[in-house]
Amino acid sequence: MKVSQDLVLDVSEVLLTEEQIGAKVVELGQQISTDYAGRQLTLVSVLKGSLPFMADLMRSISLPLRIDLMEVSSYGGTTTESSGLVRILKDLSAPIEGRDVLLVEDIIDTGLTLNYLLRYLKGKNPRSIKVCALLDKPARRLVEIPLDYVGFQIPDAFVVGYGLDFGEVYRNLRFVGVLRPEAYES
Ligand code: IMP
Repeated sequence: MKVSQDLVLDVSEVLLTEEQIGAKVVELGQQISTDYAGRQLTLVSVLKGSLPFMADLMRSISLPLRIDLMEVSSYGGTTTESSGLVRILKDLSAPIEGRDVLLVEDIIDTGLTLNYLLRYLKGKNPRSIKVCALLDKPARRLVEIPLDYVGFQIPDAFVVGYGLDFGEVYRNLRFVGVLRPEAYES
């Protein structure tokens, strides 16, 4: 893997600008604030890719809320393909029983990770559980799961930035862009 010192050089196309992402996150936050008014909202996000989205989304929601963080890794797949086998590296730090949980995800690709997480979290008896994903790549879906809030549908390309990585790099880009194939083929 060869990473340029200027990360932008490894991106072939900017799919979503910082401004487009910012406007969408505000819109999602307003919708969520309306939908959950008067309820016990807990945002659960999944490290590390959802970190910038979670940080921005929580500040766009005007309701009192709690947050919790999980970290999972999928293993057995290739570097750009999910395997669906999910390992929990960090679990919730507080019970969610009786709470309205909103799972905050960076990107839904095959849907295998989300499928696993939803089953896991439902087992903890929340009052309700819904999903808010910034990016949806429907072309590659293997498990059909209804997404309650979606930022953008994107085409079938490997994207980086705004939290999303390749080989743990590129998360700090402010936009979402398509990684040049040379960057992951070499
Ligand atoms: P899924 O289980 O195939 O839906 O994959 C979900 C996870 O794979 C995401 O949370 C990301 O961590 C990762 N992922 C899927 N597509 C991409 C991509 O285009 N760029 C970076 N990470 C991705």
